[in-house]
Amino acid sequence: MSKSITVSYEGKPCYSILIEQDYKKLSEELRVLGYGPDRKICIVTDSNLFHLHLKELEHMVKSYFNNVVSFCFPAGEEQKNLETVRKLYEHLIKNRFDRHDVLIAFGGGVVGDLTGFAAATYLRGIDFVQIPTTLLSQVDSSIGGKTGVDVSRYKNMVGAFYQPKLVYMNL
Ligand SMILES: NC(=O)c1ccc[n+]([C@@H]2O[C@H](COP(=O)([O-])OP(=O)(O)OC[C@H]3O[C@@H](n4cnc5c(N)ncnc54)[C@H](O)[C@@H]3O)[C@@H](O)[C@H]2O)c1
Repeated sequence: MSKSITVSYEGKPCYSILIEQDYKKLSEELRVLGYGPDRKICIVTDSNLFHLHLKELEHMVKSYFNNVVSFCFPAGEEQKNLETVRKLYEHLIKNRFDRHDVLIAFGGGVVGDLTGFAAATYLRGIDFVQIPTTLLSQVDSSIGGKTGVDVSRYKNMVGAFYQPKLVYMNL
């Protein structure tokens, strides 16, 4: 059973939340957003998702996009910081990501918050898509555009409100 919900922002339709049972519709949905096959895509994930599910997602994304890279960081809240964001920026620069390219946040709230913040700030803002994989991130953190990282021991001290282009859940 598929379900689609449109999220409005400041009175206008802003992005869709798709609730699916697999990744079959993902490429088509990215195409609908206007992304051609030569857009570069960076899938950002953590070490647990990397081992469990990244291959399956990469396979679907690579079936349409020609330039797909991934960036993985160790799982855990303690990695949700500016140092991890810096490493992600470097990865994007090394792979020549420009304003037209896209980040996919593939993971729980830690991955989503950090990727959203990197998307909001890299080149003053590039598109990002949320693929939330924990219950918390599916019902809460992937929706609403709150992005950010922790600083020292202070939670969510630096961030931005930045909306995703799509939220795609594979239950
Ligand atoms: N932006 C917001 O509005 C908002 C709202 C609430 C919480 N948050 C943030 O969300 C974060 C917490 O999110 P969380 O609870 O998802 O934590 P998390 O992202 O750390 O994920 C919890 C653990 O589950 C693992 N995991 C993720 N998906 C999995 C899967 N499909 N199968 C097996 N393991 C999986 C992760 O690797 C991690 O070890 C906090 O940083 C919090 O500040 C943000």
